[in-house]
Amino acid sequence: MTEVPQPPHKRRAHTSTRDLERYAGLFAERTTVMRSSAMRDLMAVTARPEVISLAGGLPDTSTFPPQSFAAQMTRIAQESAAAALQYGPTEGFEETKDCIVEVMAAEGMLPDPDDIVVTTGGQQAIDLVTKTLVDPGDVVITEAPTYPGAVPVFCSYQADVRQVEMDADGMRIDLLEALLEELRAAGRRPKFVYTVPSFQNPGGVTLSLARRLRLVELAQEHELLVVEDNPYGMLRYGGEALPPLYQLDGGDFVVYLGTFSKILSPGIRLGWVVAPPPVLEKVVLGKGAADLCTSTLTQFFVRQYFGEGGWRRYVEDLVGLYRGRRDTMLEALHEHFPTAASWTEPEGGLFIWATLPDYIDTEDLLAKALRSDVAFVPGRAAYVDGRGGNSMRLNFSGVTDEEIREGIKRIGAVITEQVELYETLAPSEGSAQAAPGMPGREAEDMPVDAKTKSASGDDRNLTPSAPEADRRAADEGGDVLPFRRAEGA
Ligand SMILES: Cc1ncc(COP(=O)(O)O)c(C=O)c1O
Repeated sequence: MTEVPQPPHKRRAHTSTRDLERYAGLFAERTTVMRSSAMRDLMAVTARPEVISLAGGLPDTSTFPPQSFAAQMTRIAQESAAAALQYGPTEGFEETKDCIVEVMAAEGMLPDPDDIVVTTGGQQAIDLVTKTLVDPGDVVITEAPTYPGAVPVFCSYQADVRQVEMDADGMRIDLLEALLEELRAAGRRPKFVYTVPSFQNPGGVTLSLARRLRLVELAQEHELLVVEDNPYGMLRYGGEALPPLYQLDGGDFVVYLGTFSKILSPGIRLGWVVAPPPVLEKVVLGKGAADLCTSTLTQFFVRQYFGEGGWRRYVEDLVGLYRGRRDTMLEALHEHFPTAASWTEPEGGLFIWATLPDYIDTEDLLAKALRSDVAFVPGRAAYVDGRGGNSMRLNFSGVTDEEIREGIKRIGAVITEQVELYETLAPSEGSAQAAPGMPGREAEDMPVDAKTKSASGDDRNLTPSAPEADRRAADEGGDVLPFRRAEGA
């Protein structure tokens, strides 16, 4: 018998220049603008057990009772193994949709199950909606900052992303209106506005009721689609519940994205899209092409779990736990961050957004923080145009109170060192200012109990000054179109 030569078995440590040259001619145009997810990149660095990671967006899955998990999986294995191990319908099982209707009803929404497609997490929901609606160069409007995981999606589809400032009350709808007017004058129709109205990732802020009503009104006036991404709506730690945009609109112009990740488990990878039938039909086609169907096994698990009827109690437990961790982080920030810093005070969700003096670059700061075994997400990951360089996202859900205190103390020490160094080198510039030049809010926009405070107590928008962003973009040698510049170029 002729011996077949076996290729040498080896693990490649890195992609070499030679590798890149060999395949360069094969890559699709869109790969030149693809970006990696900042959180994924960071996960590799923060995997070291000694690192306190405030970078992830991880729910605390250790709170899910293992015996309940084991009992449900055993029951599935005993009673429906063959079906649970089989393919399922592309749009998802009816029983999964019933669970989704139950979750949405808990927030005041009444979707038609036929308007739902079950997806592989909320992340795939963003991808499928963008795949369905966006051609290269199409305008997508997002908040500034936006969900860092959505940035690589919009870049992959070569969208022209326009970001609208937020303040303590969420997206500035007055600025959105101005942008819509500017686009209309230029003959451009945005494909959609992507928003995380409740306990935004990464900003931690929530769109006020007045702004929700105006946004829905604008969507209807302009026949503009609004993609409402709502993973955190049920994780409220204080304040009044607000109606989702989907509820206010009735589902004509609002495409709703949901997920079980933050109320049950991200490991089951189950999310969903609710959309008007013509949009949904295309989303289902895209879904079929992407992965045929969502995991049958985890859909069976959700069905079983919801059948037990205890899912709301589990969410209440999470709310109690995360409320405590949020409070711990806010206390630690007051204690350890210098007065030149500001941060949001979220009423729910998993994140706090901190803004530092504009001479501090949080990507450089992260390198220093990692030497102290602590990590966060640098703010630039939440922008497409190089802004956000002096801000950071801090997660409080996936870490213990003790880790939060220690982690914030270590980051605070690194920031304080930078501030002191700056003040030594540039005393004439006076003491540090958090993002001087930030546009202030208009009087009528100013909430009485502003939730975005600096340590010294003044209100803030969430983005550094435009001149600073422009300087960075220029430093990076990029033109301003986001989809023309590769990551980190
Ligand atoms: C705003 C937002 N959308 C979508 C997702 C994706 O979540 P998943 O794919 O786990 O449902 C996340 C995860 O953190 C998120 O914060």
